[in-house]
Amino acid sequence: MKPEKCKQNIKKSKTDLLSLFHLNYIFVQTEMKMKKLLLLIPVLGYWVACTSDKGPVPITDTDNCDSTVSYSTDIAPIMTDYCISCHTAGGSGTGDFTTYAELKQKADNGSLKNRVVDLKDMPQAGSPTISEEQRKMINCWIKQGAPNN
Ligand code: HEC
Repeated sequence: MKPEKCKQNIKKSKTDLLSLFHLNYIFVQTEMKMKKLLLLIPVLGYWVACTSDKGPVPITDTDNCDSTVSYSTDIAPIMTDYCISCHTAGGSGTGDFTTYAELKQKADNGSLKNRVVDLKDMPQAGSPTISEEQRKMINCWIKQGAPNN
């Protein structure tokens, strides 16, 4: 090959290579764009789910609370049997549940429902637990305004 021709060939292959790179670049770019678009789908999904979310869904709010729960005949005995071994003045549990006033306070600030109905971690692990019926009773009592009835 003549040196002139040779130079031309090298130049041509260089531009070929460059355009190949360029093509590849475009492909990668569109591929990335597609991937970004695909990534947008779950993001949009979360956005829709999050903005239409009206806060935590109460877990046991399917409880049917047709009959009135009584503090003195339904709730206080549960406290006596399952809670006040800890929840009493000087006990390990927060609040003295031998009194209506302190239990009412936990009903009003949401902690009673949170621990007994939602988390179900009270009575504390290791102590005798309460039945679903009793949890429902406590939930209904709270929903009925935790009255001293
Ligand atoms: C073996 C002891 C024990 C028993 C029994 C027990 N608890 Fe507790 N409870 C605790 C302790 C300790 C805490 C404080 C630490 C914590 O929040 O986990 C607590 C915290 C709580 C709280 C949160 C109070 C607050 O102000 O944050 C509630 C509500 C509660 N208990 C309700 C109950 C009810 C209702 C029962 C009975 C059905 C019960 N517990 C039985 C030990 C106990």
